[in-house]
Amino acid sequence: GKIKVAVFVGSLRKASINRRLALAVERLAPEGVEFEHIRIDNLPLYNQDFDGDYPAECKRLKHQVEAANALLFVTPEYNRSVPGVLKNALDIGSRPWGTNSFAGKPGAVIGASIGAVGSAMAQQHLRNTLAYLDVSTLAQPEVFVHFKDDTLIDEKGHISNDGTEKFLQDFVDRYVAWVRRHLA
Ligand code: FNR
Repeated sequence: GKIKVAVFVGSLRKASINRRLALAVERLAPEGVEFEHIRIDNLPLYNQDFDGDYPAECKRLKHQVEAANALLFVTPEYNRSVPGVLKNALDIGSRPWGTNSFAGKPGAVIGASIGAVGSAMAQQHLRNTLAYLDVSTLAQPEVFVHFKDDTLIDEKGHISNDGTEKFLQDFVDRYVAWVRRHLA
């Protein structure tokens, strides 16, 4: 059957290298795998007072997550952790209490940075949160894309380096196979 992936990009900026990485992954995916980018820039900051009457944009996010059968998180590292905008989206999707929209869905965490070890700490923090939210994340391969050069992936997701393309193709193949095993 079809795989519907809800994609969360942890950066809001237009030229985001993480958004470009998400588009590259999408290009490498086989037929039958659909990607929907979940909007997180227009969510309110989570407030527990919402739980009695959830705001429309928060409900919208929950419905989009619930309609997907897999998750993909593509995140930069901000000060050695997950950007606040992405954590906010996770908090919103996880509530009101007892209605965690992420529960039971298979996911993967990948990321890009301009520094050599970048995004590794953020990814580790994110995996921790996702484990608590009952999202199993693909363990290997880990994907820490180093944008030594801004032209590595363009704004349409075209990859300019063969080694990077091969590596990401291997990631996509293993991710899709792993999601299929979860859904079987
Ligand atoms: C960063 N950056 C960064 N990089 C890193 O490898 N480790 C870090 O802890 C941080 N911290 C950090 C904090 C803040 C507030 C900003 C704005 C940036 C650099 C970051 O990797 C770089 O800006 C990326 O280009 C951000 O990803 P997008 O927006 O291009 O997807």
